Amino acid sequence: MERLYHLIKAEQLTPSIVTELLTEAESFNQSLKAGVRHFENLKGVTLCSLFYEESTRTRFSFERAAFLLGATVISTENAAQFSSAAKGESLEHTIKVISGVAQGHLRYADIIILRHPENGAADRAARVSGVPIINAGSGSDEHPTQALLDAYTFEKLLGRLDHFTISFVGDLKFSRVVNSEAFLLSQYPGVKMVFVAPEGLEIRPELKSYLSQKGIEFEEASDIKEVVRESDICYVVRVQKNRIKDKALLLAYQRNRDNFVVTEEVYKISEQKGTFFCHPMPVDGEEQEIRQEIENLPRVKMLEQAGYGVPVRMAILAKVWQTQKI
Ligand code: NCD
Repeated sequence: MERLYHLIKAEQLTPSIVTELLTEAESFNQSLKAGVRHFENLKGVTLCSLFYEESTRTRFSFERAAFLLGATVISTENAAQFSSAAKGESLEHTIKVISGVAQGHLRYADIIILRHPENGAADRAARVSGVPIINAGSGSDEHPTQALLDAYTFEKLLGRLDHFTISFVGDLKFSRVVNSEAFLLSQYPGVKMVFVAPEGLEIRPELKSYLSQKGIEFEEASDIKEVVRESDICYVVRVQKNRIKDKALLLAYQRNRDNFVVTEEVYKISEQKGTFFCHPMPVDGEEQEIRQEIENLPRVKMLEQAGYGVPVRMAILAKVWQTQKI
């Protein structure tokens, strides 16, 4: 059995571990559908959800997953403001205390779910923690659990994770979701990636050279309408206003907004291909990357996708706890 102690980056999610986790997630999904609400995988376990950044889906679905598995959850509404970080405490000290590095039996929590605005934060936390760290989003670099729940979504929609075309559309530079997703999918044969971004917000050079080195087929384009006809999945992300410091980049997006949003026209031209539209959410109310008038159409899958956060995160927690015990 493969181990999964900390989950920090998508590269850890090899095809064999993905298969194991998605099979487990599917079984949790089926049990939930059948009305089961009590599982014992995390009985007696305390989970700490430590979020230094805003979240709706990731935090709630993790907490829901933990409760369903029999765990207790401790959390703070906003760690940046209400934890000792506001008094200048380092992330390392906070993690050492919660994970009880001095006296393991007096630790506050057995698993820590961490969201943090800095790149590499989960890695730093894992280096000093006495308990597993699960990265629930670090800066603009990684969001591996979102990548996994997206993989679950694609498998549900297409029946496979290999030999398909996916286009990523929007602000690809600051999207940690796209970054993690590309790393995860690059491990599968025949996945063609198409990147559609405004000038200045293209995928990062590191990701490009990683894909080239691995011989992964990818293309870059500047208009969703050019690529949607060939895409099995069109994955749209918002422009990350909370991370963009250079306002000119935001203006470049807004000036050509129609090239990066799913409109009625885009939906129509993808009819023949049967393209599915995914989005990690939140959708920006002002930019409307998925236009309101089409958001309830059958090939727009973002709400189902968000729901899959529950069984997929149940599978992750169960696996991490199982690894911790051996
Ligand atoms: C994403 C995130 O936080 O990176 N949201 C999520 O977890 N579902 C995407 C985003 O904020 O744009």
